[in-house]
Amino acid sequence: MPAVIVLGTQWGDEGKGKATDQLGQRTDVVVKFNGGNNAGHTVVVNGEKYALHLLPAGILSEGVTPVIGNGVVVDLEVLFEELAEMERRGVDVSRLLISANAHIIPSYNRVMDRATEKSLGERQIGTTGRGIGPTYADKMNRIGLRIQDLFDESILRQKVRSALVGKNTTLEALGGTAIDPETVIAELLSYVERVRPMVVDASLVVNDALDNGKMVLFEGGQATMLDIDHGTYPFVTSSNPTAGGALTGTGVGPTRIDAVVGVAKAYTTRVGEGPFPTELTDEVGQALREKGGEFGVTTGRPRRCGWFDSVVVRYSTRINGLTDICLTKLDVLTGYETIPVCVAYEVDGVRMDEMPMDQSSFHHAAPIYEELPGWIEDISDVRRFEDLPTNAQAYVLRLEELCRCRISSIGVGPGREATIVRMPIAD
Ligand code: GDP
Ligand code: IMO
Ligand code: MG
Repeated sequence: MPAVIVLGTQWGDEGKGKATDQLGQRTDVVVKFNGGNNAGHTVVVNGEKYALHLLPAGILSEGVTPVIGNGVVVDLEVLFEELAEMERRGVDVSRLLISANAHIIPSYNRVMDRATEKSLGERQIGTTGRGIGPTYADKMNRIGLRIQDLFDESILRQKVRSALVGKNTTLEALGGTAIDPETVIAELLSYVERVRPMVVDASLVVNDALDNGKMVLFEGGQATMLDIDHGTYPFVTSSNPTAGGALTGTGVGPTRIDAVVGVAKAYTTRVGEGPFPTELTDEVGQALREKGGEFGVTTGRPRRCGWFDSVVVRYSTRINGLTDICLTKLDVLTGYETIPVCVAYEVDGVRMDEMPMDQSSFHHAAPIYEELPGWIEDISDVRRFEDLPTNAQAYVLRLEELCRCRISSIGVGPGREATIVRMPIAD
């Protein structure tokens, strides 16, 4: 199975890190295609927990080449902190490669991110404050800094100075302090020699690997409902975490992709602001948060929790052309008498089976639930589908039907081994 995209189907934190790591053990290359250190991907290997932000999950598997693709935005300070931490824990990080076309998150964009959020007041997005939005905006505005710019000092100087003209005007207008370009330039230049050996034409690396029959995993950050085009705009991130983003974010063509794996949590969570039809704002939601350990890996914020929304995942199947779903955290649902699953919405008295076309309908969508019988047995040691309690099997089969995509694997715990593999990916 040479080329597999792994992406989020809901609002993030579905367990993409674990899924990538689990599939990654038989992979040659793991390439990240979007986002930056707004992502927090958890991988648990032999009881050791790793929180990855910029580094591809493949970094934890020996023999895998981890690559940061052109679609990623890179905060160099965070990158080197993360590399140092991994090295301290005995992980070989010398194999990391970075696309020459990836954009850099300069420190001023962290400042811009926070200033913009503040100026939005009640309408704020609840961003991670990592400078993600301003950096993608600079990319589109054609005033961004790319990794390759580090190696031409005069271009770098020119770009930083001109980018800061507009930004400083905005910052001052918002009551902030102007940023000195010379400080930023010195900061960036301090990374040049450390970055140099990692820089490659990542598209060439990935395509060569595929030409040679190697297996490549495309690891997405964020998720479909946070997609700048297909998500709950404006309460989204600023990249394309969907399948198309895996292509533009790495430089491969659609004809090379063999499987698109959507990771879906057995319930739903969301961090930050924005609509969330199945959200539970009561003690049931609170209990789900505690049970599932739903606190952000990146910001530590409590995640909003709710029941599984099959309208959302069905939409994800369509937007991404999913071939498979990896269902995660089924173990967290143990102990309920019945489990509600959202099968459709009601908007202004009308039933809607598909995602509403306009955002205001989505804001007003009331979930229509189907109650599925629960189970009480501990399932965390189960490794075969047939060994799951009948009601847990029925829950998975009903989700499969509602999402219009087969569920190939089921997570029953955070560890690499805590997975029920029902069928090989895209078999
Ligand atoms: P990502 O951003 O999609 O990689 O997901 P996060 O790492 O932010 O959040 C997923 C959390 O669920 C992490 O703490 C994982 O260790 C944990 N996790 C992943 N799969 C499972 C599972 O099947 N069961 C349980 N109990 N935890 C899981
Ligand atoms: P992983 O890869 C969950 C959310 C933020 C905010 C919105 C915009 O771990 O699933 P940004 O800083 O990207 O401009 O914030 O997107 N967000 C995430 N939520 N998981 C993530 O990543 C997220 N990355 C961004 O909370 O609502
Ligand atoms: Mg996460």
